[in-house]
Order: sequence, then C-alpha cells, then structure tokens
Amino acid sequence: MKTAITANYVPALRFRWLTRWYDALMARVFPEARVRDALIDSADIRRGQQILDFGTGTASLAIRLKQRHPMPEVVGVDVDPEALAIAQQKMEKAGVYLELAQYNGEILPYPDATFDRVVTCLVLHHLAPAQKRRSLRELRRVLKPSGSLHVADWGKPSNRRMRLAFYVVQLLDGFKTTRENVQGRLPQIFHESGFALVQEARKVDTLFGTMRIYSVFGTKH
Ligand SMILES: C[S@@+](CC[C@H](N)C(=O)[O-])C[C@H]1O[C@@H](n2cnc3c(N)ncnc32)[C@H](O)[C@@H]1O
Repeated sequence: MKTAITANYVPALRFRWLTRWYDALMARVFPEARVRDALIDSADIRRGQQILDFGTGTASLAIRLKQRHPMPEVVGVDVDPEALAIAQQKMEKAGVYLELAQYNGEILPYPDATFDRVVTCLVLHHLAPAQKRRSLRELRRVLKPSGSLHVADWGKPSNRRMRLAFYVVQLLDGFKTTRENVQGRLPQIFHESGFALVQEARKVDTLFGTMRIYSVFGTKH
C-alpha cells in the first residue's frame, strides 16, 4: 500500500545514499542477534497473531521474527522506499513472506485494534519529540486492547563509557531526536502517549551505547 510520503524523516544511517550499507555496517558493529532475539523473546509471539514491525527498514527484525516463528502474520511498515526495496529483496532471498508497506509517517494504514503485537527496533531515536508521541499514539490505536508493544532502542547509558560512546550515534542521527532516549525518558513518553504499563525486559551495552528493551501495555494487568 502506498501513500504520500513525508519528506521529513531520518533514514537508517541519516543520509539516503548510506542506506544500502546499513545491513553490512550493522553486521559488523552492532550485536544484532542479541538485541533482536531479546526483543522477539520479550514479545511472547504465538501462532495466529498479527504482528506489526514499525520502522521495519531493511526488515532484519521482521525476517528474523518470521524465521523463528513462521506462523504469525507479520507486516513491516516504514516511510523509506529505498529501505523497503532492500527489505523486499532480502525477504525473497530468505524465502519468507512478509507484507511490506510504505506509509506517510503520520497515519498508519490500518484500522483500530488490528495487531496483537507491535515490535520496533532502533526507530524511536529517529523521531523528534512530538513525532515520537504521535507515532506511539498511532501504535496504541492499531494495537488490540489485549496487545502489547515491544521496543528496542537506545536508552539511559549504564555508565559513563556508554554515555561517551553514544555521542557517535548523536552525531550521526542528530541530537534532537536522540536526546530523550539518552535521558532515559522513553518509559515516561510511553505513558504520555496513552500506555498504562511499561516494563524493562533487558539492557544490552554495545559499542555505541546502551540498548534498552521495553514491553509496553495499554492496560495494567
Ligand atoms: C536505524 S533504522 C532501523 C531499521 C530496523 N527497524 C532495524 O532494526 O534494523 C530506522 C528506521 O526508522 C525509519 N523511520 C524514520 N522515521 C520514521 C517514521 N516516522 N515512521 C516509521 N519509520 C520511520 C527509517 O526509515 C529507518 O528505516
């Protein structure tokens, strides 16, 4: 499904011409298996669920999820057509089927209460403060009341070395979109965006800072 695309987004490696190198770079410098598997584990995926990968990019998370759990239906959505074209090729090569969709960065093209799970990895730090909250409210809208959101993203550094390392990400992706992440404000932003319960599932220290993995629920249970 194609909609008018916002010109105003931060691509995977900030500059469009770098998108084609995203997967190769990630494979070398980021503990992908550890972070993606921890995120997938936290989501308690079951047969028959409808799952949305928000900001799927080149679909590394969605493909891994589908390889580990073939039965659920997985949809990957992103604003960037170049990343989605790479995702399409990777999906065909991996022999898995996902639905990939391009959207306008504002309104997700799904009715209320469509998904059992939303997963999202390394996306929120690409969104400016107001956009973070708008996107999270959209994710809350498309989640079923019993559904949950599972987020892996840069968070409060676990020590001074992690804080210093994170300046590399901030120089690349920008200070405006990353500031609240490094201040450890994501849990508060989930609450501000209509979610009722936030649990931190894991933290992973990396070469570029501390990744935090959250499970976020619309209701307290
Ligand atoms: C660092 S990449 C992460 C990609 C993928 N989730 C992964 O784990 O490799 C960030 C992604 O966020 C996407 N993005 C940026 N703004 C967005 C928005 N408003 N809505 C959805 N995705 C967005 C970018 O196009 C890019 O694909």
